Amino acid sequence: MKMLSTRLAAVAAVTLLALVGVTSADPRYARPGDHEPLQQRWQRPDRLARRVCYYESWAVYRPGDGVYEVEDIPADLCTDLIYSFCGLSNVTWEVMVIDPETDITQGSYRRFVALKEKFPDMKTHIAVGGWAEGGKKYSQMVSMKERRDTFVRSVVQLLTDYGFDGFDLDWEYPGAMDRGGTFADKDNFLKLVEELRSAFDSVGLGWELTCAVPVAKFRLQEGYHVPELCSLLDAIHLMTYDLRGNWVGFADVHSMLYQRPELDEWAYEKLNANDGALLWEEFGCPRDKLVLGTPFYGRTYTLGSPDNNDLHAPIKKWEGGGNPGPYTNATGTLAYFEVWA
Ligand SMILES: *[C@@H]1O[C@H](CO)[C@@H](O)[C@H](O)[C@H]1NC(C)=O
Ligand SMILES: *[C@@H]1O[C@H](CO)[C@@H](O)[C@H](O)[C@H]1NC(C)=O
Repeated sequence: MKMLSTRLAAVAAVTLLALVGVTSADPRYARPGDHEPLQQRWQRPDRLARRVCYYESWAVYRPGDGVYEVEDIPADLCTDLIYSFCGLSNVTWEVMVIDPETDITQGSYRRFVALKEKFPDMKTHIAVGGWAEGGKKYSQMVSMKERRDTFVRSVVQLLTDYGFDGFDLDWEYPGAMDRGGTFADKDNFLKLVEELRSAFDSVGLGWELTCAVPVAKFRLQEGYHVPELCSLLDAIHLMTYDLRGNWVGFADVHSMLYQRPELDEWAYEKLNANDGALLWEEFGCPRDKLVLGTPFYGRTYTLGSPDNNDLHAPIKKWEGGGNPGPYTNATGTLAYFEVWA
């Protein structure tokens, strides 16, 4: 049992299910039961739903039984795997290996792509960015044509060298002034995506270009030309996880499917999976390109008082957001098997 749970858990990340359309006349109030049955999509071979699995390369550093290697990924469950993350050099403006020991010396890149030997129909992608990379250097990179050209060339080289089938843009986030971005990011990010798309098309190997995106309305407004991006990208990975955390000051689940009228107010009113997907559609993204993010990990909190342990119980906000599980290094997170076991 332990073995099984460890392995499943481990998909260290996020499995994403293709969004199933919402059919309500007033989509803002779509509720369970309003959705097209999942079967209908599976029955259309030309529109096979994507099941995209992000792999956290640093999961190899989990202690003891928590250790999670590339070969532990249950790849039979995924149509697409994404290696998280590679980075960006703020000196050369090329993509950069983040952890040379793991990624290259221990062969994680190579072994990740090699999973296709067992699952030939699956695609392997690599993501650039992530929260820890910050936003400033991405903003600086897209701001100049010459830097974008260098970046694009280096991405083509990376995909060629290791045999990845696609590239996932995880800059968090274009236009985010609070993360070192600028007003010009929105236009410049679109230029980068156009240039990557055209470079990938001229290589002619069918490489995919995808993007992980936020679902808060102000983030869309400040950073994303939605219809243009959605037409250039093969899929949009909605980050409908981490929607709550210790930073909000109370304990909660972090990937609620629907708004909970009695709990979700103000900035959090529309911050749920359903409203996030509807927002991208409302901004002009075709729904068959939207992929719903589903976390396979939990967040922990240190309660203000053991007596109050309901949803929205007060927490000790400044104490690191709770203890890590025994197998998870990061404070305040639990791997799937730590939640489930
Ligand atoms: C995670 O914890 C293990 C065991 O305590 C330690 O050896 C490893 O260096 C830690 N990794 C990170 C990334 O902190
Ligand atoms: C690049 O980033 C590092 C780390 O954030 C920073 O210390 C350094 O000043 C930056 N270099 C340039 C050339 O901006």
